[in-house]
Amino acid sequence: MNRSANNPAEAPIGVFDSGVGGLTVAKEMFKLLPGEDVVYFGDVSRYPYGGRSKEIITSFTRQDIAFLLEHKVKFIICACNSASAVALDDVRGDYDLDMVGVIEPGARAAVAKTTSGRIGVIGTNATIGSNAYARTIHDIDPGVKVFSLACPLLVPLAEEGYIDKEATRLIAKDYLQTMHEVEIDTLVLGCTHYPLLKAVIADVMGDKVTLIDSGEETAKVALERLTTSGLLHPASSAGGGRTGRHKFFVSDVPEKFSSVATRFLGRVIDGITRVDISGY
Ligand code: DGL
Repeated sequence: MNRSANNPAEAPIGVFDSGVGGLTVAKEMFKLLPGEDVVYFGDVSRYPYGGRSKEIITSFTRQDIAFLLEHKVKFIICACNSASAVALDDVRGDYDLDMVGVIEPGARAAVAKTTSGRIGVIGTNATIGSNAYARTIHDIDPGVKVFSLACPLLVPLAEEGYIDKEATRLIAKDYLQTMHEVEIDTLVLGCTHYPLLKAVIADVMGDKVTLIDSGEETAKVALERLTTSGLLHPASSAGGGRTGRHKFFVSDVPEKFSSVATRFLGRVIDGITRVDISGY
């Protein structure tokens, strides 16, 4: 395994996404696992993944993983729903380290939450077209009814910081009208960017519908897996108050990433490094 030379538990966790959206997952990781070092890669030069084919997303995913392996990570989180939905299951067997995507944690949380057995899933075209959430939910509970809907316009709105604008509310309302009609009680936010629009989506759906944030759920699964495999950083698992180092890499100019990331994380991040992902 490609890990740190000394104690493998001291190696960083790798997180990747098509761009900045995965920071909604990383943010939950930082909260839940503050003592862990994290290497984040955002493939901003090839964002968005959500409208691309399975073949292209799979080849991008392999390159993203190859980049993180170079940083000797101990565990990988595929924060991108589109890559998790169409590529991760095909590629994970080729690597000798544990990886988690965002689909299964989100699906499990939704099944645990629903009481009516009617779950909605929203995501990019790639995620919804793959049917990955519906399949995973049905593997867990075949009796649940799943209603899936692609909401591609919500990604650029979140990316541009249109968080509390009337235009975003109108578009969300238009998309989600059908979810009202089918009377779901649980809605999976199946895209990295949607947690940013949680307030608008919650408002549109009303208080009878529980929103599932896959990012939060994925961070919980990462904590479980690292604990079970004995890979939690020793200083952090001992409650030693360690503060992890966070490194950020992107495949195109860092400035745009930096300004959007500041909004996503609520803090300024320094030292974002640009890498040529085509070489991986
Ligand atoms: N990260 C993607 C996802 O969660 C959204 C942005 C994109 O399409 O690349 O599906």
